[in-house]
Amino acid sequence: MSATSPAAVVVLAAGEGTRMKSKTPKVLHEISGRSLVGHVVAAARELEPQHLVVVVGHASEQVTAHLNAGDAPVRTAFQAEQNGTGHAVRMGLEELGGTVDGTVIVVCGDTPLLSGETLGALAATHAADANAVTVLTAEVPDSTGYGRIVRDPATGAVTEIVEHKDATDEQRAIREINSGVFAFDGSLLADALGKVRTDNSQGEEYLTDVLSILRAAGHRVGASVAGDHREILGINNRLQLAEARRLLNDRLLERAMLAGVTIVDPASTLIDATVTYERDALVHPGTQLLGSTHLGEDSEVGPNSRIEDTLVGPGARIDNTVTLSAEIGPGATVGPYAYLRPGTRLGVKAKAGTYVEMKNATIGEGTKVPHLSYVGDATIGDHTNIGAASVFVNYDGVAKHHTTIGSHCRTGSDNMFVAPVTVGDGVYTAAGSVITKDVPSGSLAVARGQQRNIEGWVARKRPGSAAAQAAQASSQGADGES
Ligand code: UD1
Ligand code: CA
Repeated sequence: MSATSPAAVVVLAAGEGTRMKSKTPKVLHEISGRSLVGHVVAAARELEPQHLVVVVGHASEQVTAHLNAGDAPVRTAFQAEQNGTGHAVRMGLEELGGTVDGTVIVVCGDTPLLSGETLGALAATHAADANAVTVLTAEVPDSTGYGRIVRDPATGAVTEIVEHKDATDEQRAIREINSGVFAFDGSLLADALGKVRTDNSQGEEYLTDVLSILRAAGHRVGASVAGDHREILGINNRLQLAEARRLLNDRLLERAMLAGVTIVDPASTLIDATVTYERDALVHPGTQLLGSTHLGEDSEVGPNSRIEDTLVGPGARIDNTVTLSAEIGPGATVGPYAYLRPGTRLGVKAKAGTYVEMKNATIGEGTKVPHLSYVGDATIGDHTNIGAASVFVNYDGVAKHHTTIGSHCRTGSDNMFVAPVTVGDGVYTAAGSVITKDVPSGSLAVARGQQRNIEGWVARKRPGSAAAQAAQASSQGADGES
C-alpha cells in the first residue's frame, strides 16, 4: 500500500448499455484481452485500495460470474434498479458498511483506457490539496453527451457539473467534461449522497450533484485535468469500442517496442494487455498475440498468425500459423500453415512444418513432423522424423487413445498410427503402413499390401483408349532401342 492508497475504489457497472445493441452487458464486451470492466478493475488494483467493489445491476449474475472467474475474485454490490450514478455509489458504500473513512475513488466500468497511473495522480492531487472532492476532467474535441464542467469565470474554480441533457446552450459549448472519475472524502461523500435529489431531466440520482452539494456546504472542490483526453473515453457504442481497442492496442504495442520487441507493422498487429515478451522478439505483419502468450528472446512470429495462450521459447520461429495453449520450445520451428491446438508441446529445436495439425502432443528435442500430418494424443521421443502425410488415428468413434513413438525413429510417408499403439526406439516403418500393433525397438515395420503388376491389363480391358495407345507407343519405343 502506497502513501496515497485509497480506502476504497467503487466501480460503476450496473447499467445496461443499450446503445451497444447487444445481448451481452456493455461492461463484458472485450478489447485487448479483457472485458471493459476487467480493464478498469486492473487499473484500480494498481492503486492497492483497501476495498474494491463493483456495483452490478443489469445482468448482474452474468457480470458477477465474470468478476468471480479467475484467481482474483472481485467483491460486488447489487443495484436492483439503475436509478443513477449517485444511487449506484450509495449501493457500493452500503456494501462497505455505509461509509468509509479515507479516500474513495469512483470510476465507471466503461472507461477501459483509464490507466492506474492517472488514477494514482488523481488520488495524489486530492490528498495534496486536501479536497472534499476532486473530479478528473478532460478537454475533448466533441463534448456531446458528457457532463460539462462549469467553472467560476472569475476564480476558475469548479462550481458544478451539468449533464448534457440538463445543460443550456451556453453550457453545451463547454469542452471540459466530467470523465466520471472522482476522488472523494469518504464520510463527506456518504453524507452528500443522502442529499442528492432526482429533479433532473432523467429523474435519476446524479453522482455529479455531490460536487455542488459539497461546495455549497463550504468544502474544497477541485479538478484534475487529464493529460490525454483519449484516456477517459467512455464506451457507449460499438464505434467507441473499436476506437478504444485501437488506442489501447497502440499503447500496448508502444510498450512492447520500448521494451525491445520489433513490431514490423504496428497497424496490422494486435496484442492483448496480458501478453508478455523478452527483448529482440520480432513480430511480422498480420499477427495477433493473445491471452497469456509469452514471446521469448529472439523469437520470431508471423506474418499472419494467431498466437493465443502460447509460450514461445527463445529463438523459436512461427510462420503463418494458429497456436492455442501450446508450448513451443527454444529454437523450435512451426509452419508455415500449421495449427497447434491445446496441449501441444514442442521440444528444443523440434519442428511442426507445413500443413501440420497437432493436439495434446509432446514432441521431443530435435524431432520433426515436416509435412501434411495430424498428430493427436501422442508422445514422440527425441530426434525422430515422421514421414509426410502421416495421421495419428486417435479416435475410434467413442474414445480418444494415445500413441507413443520412441527416439531416433524414421517413419515412412503416409503412415497411420492406429492408437493405442507404441513404437519403440530406433524404429523404421515403411511408407504407406497402417501401424496397428506395437513395434519393438530397432525393427522395420511394414504394414501394407504387396504390390502386384498385371501386365497387359490396359490393352486387354481398355483397347483403343488413350492409355492403351500410350502404353503401346512406349513398348514400341522400348523395342526400337533394343
Ligand atoms: C456519466 C456522467 C457524466 C460523464 C460521463 C462520463 C452522471 C450523472 N453523468 O454520464 O457527467 O461525463 O458519465 O462517461 O454521473 N451506472 C450504474 N448505475 C446507474 C447508472 C449508471 O452503475 O444507475 C454506471 C454505468 O454502468 C456506467 C457508468 O455508471 O458504467 C456511467 O453511466 P452512464 O449511463 O454511461 O452515464 P453517462 O450518461 O455516460
Ligand atoms: Ca457513459
